[in-house]
Amino acid sequence: MPDATSPSTFDAIVIGAGAAGLFCAARAAQRGVKVLLVDHAAKVAEKVRISGGGRCNFTNRDLEPRAPQKHFLGENANFCRSALARFTPTDFIALVQKHGIPFHEKHKGQLFGDRSSEDFIRMLLAECEAGGVTRWQPCTVESMAFADRTYRLRTSKGEVQAPAVVIATGGLSIPQIGASDFGYRVARQFDLALVTTRPALVPLTFDGAAWAPFAGLAGLALPVRIETGAKKERMAFDEDLLFTHRGLSGPAVLQISSYWRAGQPLRIDLAPGVDLATELLQAKSRSRKLVANELAAWVPSRLADAWVQQDAGLQRPVNECSDKALQQLAQRLQAWELVPTGSEGYRKAEVTAGGVDTRELSSQTLEAKKQPGLYFIGEVVDVTGWLGGYNFQWAWASGNACAEAL
Ligand code: FDA
Repeated sequence: MPDATSPSTFDAIVIGAGAAGLFCAARAAQRGVKVLLVDHAAKVAEKVRISGGGRCNFTNRDLEPRAPQKHFLGENANFCRSALARFTPTDFIALVQKHGIPFHEKHKGQLFGDRSSEDFIRMLLAECEAGGVTRWQPCTVESMAFADRTYRLRTSKGEVQAPAVVIATGGLSIPQIGASDFGYRVARQFDLALVTTRPALVPLTFDGAAWAPFAGLAGLALPVRIETGAKKERMAFDEDLLFTHRGLSGPAVLQISSYWRAGQPLRIDLAPGVDLATELLQAKSRSRKLVANELAAWVPSRLADAWVQQDAGLQRPVNECSDKALQQLAQRLQAWELVPTGSEGYRKAEVTAGGVDTRELSSQTLEAKKQPGLYFIGEVVDVTGWLGGYNFQWAWASGNACAEAL
């Protein structure tokens, strides 16, 4: 432990012991770099702990580094290409296997631990230990100054200095477990541009009165196709939708929320893969069942009831409905257009979109171009992955790229 007069000296100080910081510290230390890792929280990697419903969706097999814009967004989605190409899901899987952690593929290439996220935290800590990383926790960084190619930090555990500092303090989501704006403040201190931050992978909310007819559907989940954006910017996902008391959630909405901008409508097909208008008209020619009962062949019956209740002309046997009314019902179900009023915010967002502008950083090393020795990795950078393990893969890959440069 340092005394008040002589700052401890390291080759690199990594601030933030989350996914990216732990991995970067371990990789650098194993290459012979003398690393100090500090975090203001008492426990490391709280987000790894709660990730993937406690099982950690640690990467995704379906990642094409040459086309990162497929699974990542940011002002320059190509920025992450170099780091992702140099440390791939296969590389991380090899490490997981080396540590004997059992895992399985769930859905669309998503890999989860069989037991618990704790396996991955233990693995990251063991990798840090193997390199001899020094860890200070809880430790607050009070100030950071740069002179003579050296960063000098005043911390709650004393002064410390190094020629390199790695900012791995993540984004703003889930402030209850240690998220802070530290990384953005450091960027501002060194005059680096930021891309405006916003909650992403987040449930969307609706005006209370407008949502009242759907609030009773809370808990209902179904597969949908969801879209937002016009023409060239249109994004669509085929995933499950979940109705909540305040709005919509589930993988479909979390994914689209990263692309949704205030004021834009969402378009939802609640019966994807079915031509509902044709099906209902055919039903009319052969059936005397109530419309809601017919509809329940293609969508959950609670949903069928809620949609039919919106129109008195549909609360009757299907053969007594006009073609037009059935076609309109199909249209309302397959091109449901609605404008969210907002999102559940950072309290519920899985990630923060925006952050340190990638134009300020080297895509090879993650070092700030105009501030030698200052690096930004992980979520603090304007690189946001899709749901499904992509955000952790960015944390590992950016941590690795930086570690190779330290
Ligand atoms: P991360 O947030 O992991 O770590 C930042 C660290 O910095 C923390 O330890 C924090 O305490 C520390 N810190 C912050 N401010 C500081 C300060 N001022 N001083 C010192 N230390 C400071 N992704 C995925 O790929 N698969 C998944 O299954 C999930 N699941 C998931 C569930 C939930 C509920 C959330 C909220 C998020 C996910 N994610 C996810 C996203 C994923 O957790 C996230 O993208 C990564 O943890 C980002 O890694 P970082 O290391 O950049 O930040």
